[in-house]
Amino acid sequence: MLGNYMLEGKNIILGICGSIAAYKAATLVRLLIKAGANVQVVMTPDATNFITPLTLSTLSKRPVYSEYFKPDTGEWNNHVELGLWADVVIIAPASANTMAKMAGGHCDNLLTAVYLSAKCPVYFAPAMDLDMWKHDSTQDNIDKLQSFGNILIPPGSGELASGLNGEGRMAEPEEIITFLTDDIKKKLPLANVPILVTAGPTYEAIDPVRFIGNHSSGKMGFALADELAALGADVILIAGPTAQISKQKSIKRIDIISAAEMLEACLLHFDTVKACVMSAAVADYAPVTVADQKIKKQDGELNIGLKKTTDILKTLGAKKRTGQVLVGFALETQNEEQYAIDKLQKKNLDLIVLNSLNDAGAGFKNDTNKVTLIDSGLNNTVYELKTKTEVARDICAKVIELIKK
Ligand code: CTP
Repeated sequence: MLGNYMLEGKNIILGICGSIAAYKAATLVRLLIKAGANVQVVMTPDATNFITPLTLSTLSKRPVYSEYFKPDTGEWNNHVELGLWADVVIIAPASANTMAKMAGGHCDNLLTAVYLSAKCPVYFAPAMDLDMWKHDSTQDNIDKLQSFGNILIPPGSGELASGLNGEGRMAEPEEIITFLTDDIKKKLPLANVPILVTAGPTYEAIDPVRFIGNHSSGKMGFALADELAALGADVILIAGPTAQISKQKSIKRIDIISAAEMLEACLLHFDTVKACVMSAAVADYAPVTVADQKIKKQDGELNIGLKKTTDILKTLGAKKRTGQVLVGFALETQNEEQYAIDKLQKKNLDLIVLNSLNDAGAGFKNDTNKVTLIDSGLNNTVYELKTKTEVARDICAKVIELIKK
């Protein structure tokens, strides 16, 4: 099973119909909540005879809706708002009766009205006795629902509540979660694409307590890694010293300190990835020698000899296979576009993200950035000042284009 992180923060409407399998809905709610989803239970009036709304509201931490009106206050349970709120609707158990209503466009209860109002993907997990399941009308309705784009979570076979044996048993809650997460992930534009991202500064040691570093916060690289992972990529994030924390739990993070360590980690993973986005602010120079002990204050000047670090991006550019996509960053203060193009060509990149320190709100530490994207055909797109998350989205859109080229 893929990680349940696919469901984190998702608004899920769980529709429950009148079927003995409704008892499994309690476990399903629990698993969805554990996976970080916001769960709104909507029951058909009949479903409340099989499992109590109190059980489900306790587990989902929200009131459960089964009527158009809240009987106590007379308030309206707005099906349109519910339908629009949902990122995903799951109808489990889906009874033969509710499936027939869904297929026919009937909306005589809150759940069927929510179904008709929802614009998001709808999954349905049927549950019924084997002969009801086999009936032509049920099978017709299922075909119809699938032709509308609804997604069937097939029932299993086994002993049924009637005592008969056969197909019609609702998929187990764990199977529903696996089905859902697999299905959501496989439809993402970067599903299972391995991508390497570097972020943050590097620190080059002078002695055991001092280093040469830079002001990079890592915000841009972490926003990129989060965005790529949210698009389904398997992200390896090589991070220099930074206080940033990834939002996406699927990201594999490798912490390094120096440019040499970043080079080593990049070389270890580069061959296995489809794309690499080097947003780290790698030190260009490191002390020639690192003192074993803390350097003591002395009279006069202190000179520290510096040697060039390896240009990681250039090294990767020289190793790049056909089809691999390499993205670099250029932070410039003058002659911005020309310098960026020089880097793009010298380092054999497919895309360079240019930011100029002359633009207010761009560059290090800010939560915003203003970038120009230049590809290897020298097509140039200038973007407005945006949040780093929005900039990450723009860069990801280009990365997707380049990967699919
Ligand atoms: N970079 C790298 N390894 C280095 C230095 C930089 O991989 N040792 C990468 C950065 O991650 C960035 C790109 O190269 O994606 C541009 O970095 P920058 O320091 O601006 O470019 P340089 O080629 O070092 O040129 P200059 O410092 O002269 O501007």
